[in-house]
Amino acid sequence: MPAQIIDGKKVAAKIREKVKTRIQQSLAKGQNPPGLAVVLVGGDPASQVYVRTKRKACAQTGIRSIEHDLPASTSEEDLLDLIDELNNDESVDGILVQLPLPPHMETSKVIERINPDKDVDGFHPYNVGRLAQRLPRLRSCTPYGVMELFNHYGIDVKGQHAVVVGASNIVGRPMTMELLLHGATVSVTHRFTTDLAAHVGRADIVVAAAGKAGLVRGEWIKPGAVVIDVGLSRDEEGKLRGDVEFEAAAERASMITPVPGGVGPMTVAMLMMNTLEAADLRRNHPAMSR
Ligand code: GUN
Repeated sequence: MPAQIIDGKKVAAKIREKVKTRIQQSLAKGQNPPGLAVVLVGGDPASQVYVRTKRKACAQTGIRSIEHDLPASTSEEDLLDLIDELNNDESVDGILVQLPLPPHMETSKVIERINPDKDVDGFHPYNVGRLAQRLPRLRSCTPYGVMELFNHYGIDVKGQHAVVVGASNIVGRPMTMELLLHGATVSVTHRFTTDLAAHVGRADIVVAAAGKAGLVRGEWIKPGAVVIDVGLSRDEEGKLRGDVEFEAAAERASMITPVPGGVGPMTVAMLMMNTLEAADLRRNHPAMSR
């Protein structure tokens, strides 16, 4: 029997609705809307699309979006100055610097400049470290979104063998820590892994986040496994493709996310949730802030 489709679009809309309601309630109490600064450096077409989607979600949930579009020639120092300004701006609750940055910039230096209390991407070593120590604060949006999908579909990861394909800072590593935190036994594969097929074949849960279209073959999937596809790339014809061979995998899996319409919308919804949570932490629980 083919797999049940995990509808990320539907779950994301529910989460955005929840964020919207909470913002309306705080507005009714006389509070200002949360503010999210979205910084885009350069004109990478994919990044432009992502940023536009994030700003649209802000408008839809009632978050004030603060837009900073900088040319690719911007110096690292000027970007760091802008981050300082946003860190010190009381009306800004969240700061997101869209990645990748132009090659003359050091990504880790830029991320570390963001006040961890405003790090709604959850990329700052402070937030990553908290997750590693089982004290999550602001959680990386994509792994957080995947955990919300598990939650919504009643998938209990405790004791399950999860295999994360890809060990990036943005998805693979925080995903591994989320799964570990929730009691899964986790294997992480990466570019030096030999026999990827054997690892995937042992997984009750597969999270594919390598960014390589069709890397995970459908025939590798253990019958009944849950398959989460975080990959998003375009093939030669410009069609969006995930990391998993969808049709063949859906013949074996019990549940599977489509691309598009699976994990992508969840990332944006969790960004809205993180912005609300960052605003709430700073405004209503200042003692909890760093
Ligand atoms: N580039 C690709 N994914 C992301 C993300 O989740 N956040 C940011 N800031 N940049 C990205």
